[in-house]
Amino acid sequence: MKEEITRVLEAARSEIKKADSMHEIMQLKSRYIGKKSILNGLMQKLGTLTKEERPAFGKILNEAKVRISELLLQRDQEIKNLKYKKTLKKEVLDLTMPGRKREIGTLHPITKVWHEIEDIFISMGFEVAEGPDIEDEFHNFDALNTPHDHPARDLSDTFYIEDDVLLRTQTSTVQVRVMENHKPPIKIISPGSCYRNENDASHSPMFHQVEALIVDEGVTFADLRDMMNIFVKKMFGENIESRFRPHYFPFTEPSAEMDIICVKCLGKGCNLCRGTGWLELGGAGMVDPNVFDMLGINSEKYTGYAFGLGIDRIAMLKYKIPDMRLLFENDIRFLQQFK
Ligand code: DAH
Repeated sequence: MKEEITRVLEAARSEIKKADSMHEIMQLKSRYIGKKSILNGLMQKLGTLTKEERPAFGKILNEAKVRISELLLQRDQEIKNLKYKKTLKKEVLDLTMPGRKREIGTLHPITKVWHEIEDIFISMGFEVAEGPDIEDEFHNFDALNTPHDHPARDLSDTFYIEDDVLLRTQTSTVQVRVMENHKPPIKIISPGSCYRNENDASHSPMFHQVEALIVDEGVTFADLRDMMNIFVKKMFGENIESRFRPHYFPFTEPSAEMDIICVKCLGKGCNLCRGTGWLELGGAGMVDPNVFDMLGINSEKYTGYAFGLGIDRIAMLKYKIPDMRLLFENDIRFLQQFK
């Protein structure tokens, strides 16, 4: 029996040495010293021995049990240490590695162009005026001499919130608000958001315009033409020419649409200008005397000009952006190009 115990002890020693997980340790524990273990089996056999033999074997058995549990504990500690060392190795701090960079944001291209437009006009003595995005029909249409059956007033073109409450379709509303509250001379620009029910590569349901209004004695169409020319050259470069085409707006007479020479082909004709050599920038004209009369400004004494330009359009032309929707998708890969 003594040899048997020695054999068991040796077997346990060599198996414990080889164990390399906590799970294995648990298994060995139950195999050698647990309830149904080999040593417990030998314990049962003690009964077959003589009274004299029993204490000595009982002692050896107990010592073997204690030894095995010591070995198990020792190996268990070793395994834990090894695991710890491995983790330390894996999580080592490399102080020579480059740090994680914090990205700095950039102004949106529309905001950039917006600021640039403001700077140009402020440098020429304009003040910046503001008006609400949510308007009534008077400021958006009636005071701008727009008749009741004008197509722009249609539900399919304009976002109505309720009867007589709508999202402004143009920043021309601010002309009205300024003339309601100020006597000439007036010299303002008003950049802001506008809303129309359209959505394609060159139209967005929310877009931006900058309105301008000058009212004083002796203001002429030539002044308007001159101002537009100066603006275009400051915005796009000295080589960029502009032209007026006759047009109709209810609130100006005469009215014009303004084009600039194509920024891509400089007038030769390309895909951007659809072969015409020109790009449309916005509308302009002399304030219609009807508008002055409606707002209590003496149309015998004063004349004025106004224009409205698309800020998004200007941004698209300046940065050669082919689709207006890119401006509003907020894809970071697109926006990062404007750093
Ligand atoms: N509000 C016009 C539009 O959205 C643009 C415009 C044309 C503004 C002529 C003006 C103007 O001030 O005089 O189409």
